Amino acid sequence: MNGEMSILAIHDPPYNLTAFEIRKVDSFISWCKEWIGITNDYLAENSSLYLWIGANQKDGFQPLPELMIMMREFKEFSSRSLITMRNQRGYGTQKNWMAVRQECLYYTKGDPLFAVQYTEIPKILRGYYKEVGGKKTENLERSKSENIRASNVWVDVQQVFYRMVENVNGCYAQKPLASIERVVLASSQPGDLVIDFFGHSGTTLIAAEKTGRRCFTTDIDPIYCEIMIRRLERYRESGKEGWQNSNPFVEELNRQPQ
Ligand SMILES: C[S@@+](CC[C@H](N)C(=O)[O-])C[C@H]1O[C@@H](n2cnc3c(N)ncnc32)[C@H](O)[C@@H]1O
Repeated sequence: MNGEMSILAIHDPPYNLTAFEIRKVDSFISWCKEWIGITNDYLAENSSLYLWIGANQKDGFQPLPELMIMMREFKEFSSRSLITMRNQRGYGTQKNWMAVRQECLYYTKGDPLFAVQYTEIPKILRGYYKEVGGKKTENLERSKSENIRASNVWVDVQQVFYRMVENVNGCYAQKPLASIERVVLASSQPGDLVIDFFGHSGTTLIAAEKTGRRCFTTDIDPIYCEIMIRRLERYRESGKEGWQNSNPFVEELNRQPQ
């Protein structure tokens, strides 16, 4: 990074899985500690860290609680919030509550900026009376926006599926652009450097490009690195955020002998 420090890290690691085996929780947490330590070395004095982490109810919610406890060892980071994003499509057996949640831990280092974000959900409920200057006011009157402020429960973000332009076929774990853009807008400014060690479909890269931030990202799998490069090039050429029903390797596939 040529000595440059990042203002924001957004990581979405593979949950408990390596390529061919399920990792034991202890070994997953030790591995997380390593790359969070590296992240810490590259995060500026005043910066933010977001960690997406699976809450797998099939396995007693591991490794979310273990990760939260391990994070206390990093004295530089303060735990600020646990964001829950609701998927539209759930999974699970008929013998438990359907699983629809995705979790994201939010930490800060020093005293970084935080720009409040608003959803597209209109504010319609009155109430929450409070005295301001001796006058009883209600929340609609005091509010700074017509819309609801983004909270730490996101029910307004559409999960990626094949009909959406941002869909990248071949990517099994793509986060919605709207979710990453929300984080980027809240915790960085134009020109800032954002890092993401687990790039996959390049959601953070595209969110940074769309919002005028810079992004350093990588992936252990060269195929995903190539996908990210192609996704960025496509976005720059056409403004399209993904391939919808097509895919990043359509030309290569068409060239193959029948
Ligand atoms: C859950 S996905 C990230 C999804 C991404 N946020 C998106 O929206 O597309 C995790 C990615 O981490 C990659 N990965 C796994 N182990 C890694 C490692 N040790 N270093 C870097 N990337 C790794 C996987 O290849 C996979 O693409």
